[in-house]
Amino acid sequence: TLYASAAGRPEAVLTDLEVIAHRGANNFFNEHTLTAYEIASEADADSIEIDLRMTKDHELIALHDTTLDRTTTGAGVPEEFTLNEIKQFDTVAVFGQKTYKEPVPTLEEIVTAFKQEEHYYIETRLVDGETKMEEPLINLLQENDLLDPKYVSFQSFSKESLKKLQEFAPEIRSTLLYGTDKFDLEDGLEADADVIGIESRNVTKCVVDTLHQQGKEVHVFFTDERTQLVEQQRVMMYGVDGIFTDDIDFTKQVLKE
Ligand code: G3P
Ligand code: CA
Repeated sequence: TLYASAAGRPEAVLTDLEVIAHRGANNFFNEHTLTAYEIASEADADSIEIDLRMTKDHELIALHDTTLDRTTTGAGVPEEFTLNEIKQFDTVAVFGQKTYKEPVPTLEEIVTAFKQEEHYYIETRLVDGETKMEEPLINLLQENDLLDPKYVSFQSFSKESLKKLQEFAPEIRSTLLYGTDKFDLEDGLEADADVIGIESRNVTKCVVDTLHQQGKEVHVFFTDERTQLVEQQRVMMYGVDGIFTDDIDFTKQVLKE
């Protein structure tokens, strides 16, 4: 929805913004856990973001980093552990004075918990440089009656992965992500993706307008915790279409104001 100025010229697009729960409820609980997704769901996020990794026995789990080190009691790369072994570890994080622990969830556990009550915004990655997670992902979504644009969107930094997903399920919305130093507007304009996902430092009014003119939506993520909230307000004024937020309540409050 456009807000019109006195002269009738649209000034900013502040509504219809997709509030995406970045890694669950990143500011409030261990990222990528069932509890974090539950908090996001209760805060009424429009979609919950899930970063996928694959275990040695080809199970899909929610985990952001390339290793288990930062977010869990384990160490090493998840591809070298079976699911059973990963379940021996816990995610671990400190909030206030308290340390919280909770298992690493599988994608199956997440969709079993939330069924068709959530929109899952799933990020795929190459596994050992190859497109190994796309087919099992599609199968799992199909088995759970979730392979529908109402329930799922895909995102990836890998064009190869997105292409494979589009071959399996062309109807599902796809987002091509660009790392902060990798964003190239010309490339984004030509990309075979519905949405371009960029870091806030790459977002200018001109970038947003140009991508919109080409029919692309713009979703924004943030890599600097200290500036995230100020940056959210800035990019919202440019009419971006989605925000990967670590603080759902804050983002919704800004939208209301
Ligand atoms: O997927 C969008 C955003 O989450 C990208 O950043 O590193 O948190 O996955 P990252
Ligand atoms: Ca992500």
